[in-house]
Amino acid sequence: MLRIAIDGPAGSGKSTIAKILAKKYGLLYIDTGAMYRFAAYLMLTENMDFNELVESLKEKEITFEYKDGEQYLVVKDEIALYLKDELRSVEVTNLVSKVASNKEVRAVLTDMQKKIASENNVVMDGRDIGTVVIPDAEFKFFLNATLNERAKRRYKDFIEKGVEITFEEVLEDIKKRDEMDAKRDVAPLKKADDAIEIDTTGLTIDDVVSIIERNIGKVHR
Ligand code: DC
Repeated sequence: MLRIAIDGPAGSGKSTIAKILAKKYGLLYIDTGAMYRFAAYLMLTENMDFNELVESLKEKEITFEYKDGEQYLVVKDEIALYLKDELRSVEVTNLVSKVASNKEVRAVLTDMQKKIASENNVVMDGRDIGTVVIPDAEFKFFLNATLNERAKRRYKDFIEKGVEITFEEVLEDIKKRDEMDAKRDVAPLKKADDAIEIDTTGLTIDDVVSIIERNIGKVHR
């Protein structure tokens, strides 16, 4: 089996790197942040409280699929629901850390993630993948970068998508989410003891991929 766990704070480059690794090694890419974002989206659109949300999540089958080169979170129901940009809205982003700190929500989503990782070769990114979801992953990486660099990357993404937001707002949001993700009681953002930490500040995407490939190659050769 090949399971790669990538953890790190918002804007550390996890999803960009994970997508590249998925292609290179033929792995299923599971964006666990998108699953927490879906929970927040459900709460907002269906006006649910936490009990209703947990019950609703238990009934859902969540998968990921590619359409025209873009990855969508897919909820299989009578009609399949394909979600992408809806999960990145400011409203969802503002609520998601609170949803992700709920113990019952985490229990349901963690079980789903563990099941996917037991049945597939995966690269999974999030905050607790190396510590909780796949503690026995073949490879674990923890990506980091300075707050300023991470905010710059997120700001650039927003501007490219035409979202009206200031750099200061992005910086404050990331700072707040970092704190909530790192300080929560259940499965906080934390480097696994056996994860390789990479500071991506000032590195290109290719630089980071090379470092990871060197580490995987060392063992696989
Ligand atoms: O990576 P992201 O910004 O899409 O993550 C959204 C939120 O979900 C973020 O506040 C952290 C949380 N999260 C989590 O608690 N555990 C994970 N495995 C993935 C994300």
